[in-house]
Amino acid sequence: MPPDRPDAPDWDARFDREDYLFGTAPNEFLASCRALIGDGARVLCVADGEGRNSVWLASEGLDVTAFDASPVGVAKARRLAAERGVTAHYDVADVDGWQWPKEAFDVVAAIYVQFAPPAMRRRLFARILDALRPGGLFLLEGYRLEQLAHGTGGPRVPDQLYTEDQLREELAGFALEEVRSYEAVIDEGPAHSGMSAVIDVIARRPA
Ligand SMILES: C[S@@+](CC[C@H](N)C(=O)[O-])C[C@H]1O[C@@H](n2cnc3c(N)ncnc32)[C@H](O)[C@@H]1O
Repeated sequence: MPPDRPDAPDWDARFDREDYLFGTAPNEFLASCRALIGDGARVLCVADGEGRNSVWLASEGLDVTAFDASPVGVAKARRLAAERGVTAHYDVADVDGWQWPKEAFDVVAAIYVQFAPPAMRRRLFARILDALRPGGLFLLEGYRLEQLAHGTGGPRVPDQLYTEDQLREELAGFALEEVRSYEAVIDEGPAHSGMSAVIDVIARRPA
């Protein structure tokens, strides 16, 4: 828990339930990028939670690594992988503590990683850039600032939400291929449910 964020969610407590807080189906944006991800790709899922995305990627035959700070979330991810008969490598780790390898992944997915205040977010984006091979793909989905009015998921903390300008500036080291802001009904388990203000980014580490 960041010391300056005493109100940050207790993810172990949130994940300590029989069902899956964000469901077991992959995030729709991530799944829509299946063709871009390619076959046989080495994929990193950052802050993968209960594993819905890593398990789907593994079921697509990809070489998947995932980490999350919540031991309860990672245990559920491992359980889901076992139930589906797929293999992924899981670590319990904080974004600042994980041993990030360099140029090791073809794809990095960061889906709703909005626990990060601005300084941590900048460090995270820098680590993702380094972890991608040149030309590697970065896929990001998250809530925009306008999500505060919807209240259908995500942190109620403005500086953990995204704006298009802020992401363009913070991701300046990436080659941005698509930045799409939109409103849509999101239906991803009980914690992400209803009309939402979302942004999707497709970017690459410059070759
Ligand atoms: C909104 S959930 C998203 C989980 C997953 N990406 C998904 O879309 O299903 C945010 C996740 O961030 C994790 N998390 C929070 N702080 C973290 C940190 N400092 N380092 C790594 N993971 C963290 C939580 O445990 C939680 O699983």
